[in-house]
Amino acid sequence: MTTTISSIFLFASLLLLCVLPTFEQRELTADSHHHTLQVSSLLPSSVCSSSKVADERLSSLKVVHKYGPCSQLHQQESNPATHADALLQDQGRVNSIHSRLAKTSSDVKETDATKIPAKDGSVVGSGNYVVTVGIGNPKTDLSLIFDTGSDITWTQCQPCIRYCYAQKESIFDPSKSKSYLNISCNSPTCSSLSSATGNAGRCVSSTCVYAIQYGDSSYSAGFFGKESLTLTSTDVFNDIPFGCGQNNRGLFGGAAGLLGLGRDKLSFPSQTAQKYNKIFSYCLPSSASSTGYLTFGNSDISNSVQFTPLVTFPRAPSFYGLDISGISVGGNKLPISSSLFTNARTIIDSGTVITRLPPTAYSALKTAFRQAMSQYPMTQALSILDTCYDFSNYTTVSIPKISMFFGGGVKVDLDKSGIMYAGKDASQVCLAFAGNGDDSEVGIFGNVQQKTLQVVYDGAGERVGFGAGGCD
Ligand SMILES: *[C@@H]1O[C@H](CO)[C@@H](O)[C@H](O)[C@H]1NC(C)=O
Ligand SMILES: *[C@@H]1O[C@H](CO)[C@@H](O)[C@H](O)[C@H]1NC(C)=O
Repeated sequence: MTTTISSIFLFASLLLLCVLPTFEQRELTADSHHHTLQVSSLLPSSVCSSSKVADERLSSLKVVHKYGPCSQLHQQESNPATHADALLQDQGRVNSIHSRLAKTSSDVKETDATKIPAKDGSVVGSGNYVVTVGIGNPKTDLSLIFDTGSDITWTQCQPCIRYCYAQKESIFDPSKSKSYLNISCNSPTCSSLSSATGNAGRCVSSTCVYAIQYGDSSYSAGFFGKESLTLTSTDVFNDIPFGCGQNNRGLFGGAAGLLGLGRDKLSFPSQTAQKYNKIFSYCLPSSASSTGYLTFGNSDISNSVQFTPLVTFPRAPSFYGLDISGISVGGNKLPISSSLFTNARTIIDSGTVITRLPPTAYSALKTAFRQAMSQYPMTQALSILDTCYDFSNYTTVSIPKISMFFGGGVKVDLDKSGIMYAGKDASQVCLAFAGNGDDSEVGIFGNVQQKTLQVVYDGAGERVGFGAGGCD
């Protein structure tokens, strides 16, 4: 009874809101349902202002956006030329995630290293975050892209027999490290490569050789060895399986390699499970000119973190799957049936920039967002982003809050930095969501939407957690 009355009341209020002129609607809802956003906060800054929260976390690795002013890799030639290129690279990553999920498990076994499937793996993409990890003994500090969408950890190695792309730091030389060990090709670790990379390990003078292809153009191949990895002075791991890449090409933006955080046996969280129990968390900064963190283990997890159960995809068990149940815009839940998300399913990925939704859900989101933003002049689409505004004449704008609902009754309020994506300047600022090709494709909770949240991956507890205000 009470529910009926309150829904009638809610309905009536909604109706009332719809007929009111936009500016009055905004006034009514200004504080609780809108963010006031400084337009300048969306635009690149040339100065790094390190986050206090992130800096105070002693046992954490500092996370920086690979092209931002806080990164060692800033100003590398390999930066994407334009935002349109960056978004195309992002689409390449999404396409390869979809193709991995569409494969049957027998395809993985049949693949051999000499025929790397052209669309296998994942495009490392453009919107990636890097951490600095010490490799070897004595250690060499190297910037690695961290990636929850792939498993093996590798760095470019000397001698670069075939090819090494330009990287900022000097290229790792295993012959100068006391801790480097080759892995024999009969070892179980070598056999595990087929599930971790999609390519079986090969044998060169009885030493294991790996090859991983990320999308169409990026790859790394070389000896698969074991090495010491130093995260912080107290977190040093010996004998971590690791790729010593002597043939590498691709869109790594000057980073020395990759830290694989997926769920496969060979990933870094699996290899350090004894100490960290497959738990890690990160916070991606609100902008490329600030810093976040990556922490392993369960220390420093905020009490406000809420957990949603992890979903496993039998065809690609290394992904972290989530159950999205709904989305709200400006406090109003979108009229999307939850079966739409159940049918499509969703993964969370640190390397995909823009959140992908089933097109039916994206269409409802876009409609509600455009209604709430009707006072601002729209402008042309930016690549895959079709809801763009010209904010040239504004210093601040009011944008509707967006919340995502996950299984287990978890509601995640996106930060104001996690809703829009700016092109080259304020004249083209777009809603940072896109629709998939059809409603059956897997959705992706991308890294724009994860900004400033503490995101906790608990592989052992099979859950993923979100907390607000993880970093700034
Ligand atoms: C690893 O194996 C390769 C190929 O057999 C060899 O050239 C290299 O010297 C080995 N490295 C070490 C540290 O044993
Ligand atoms: C910005 O303001 C100027 C001057 O009022 C006007 O001519 C121009 O059309 C406005 N631009 C946009 C995108 O609203």
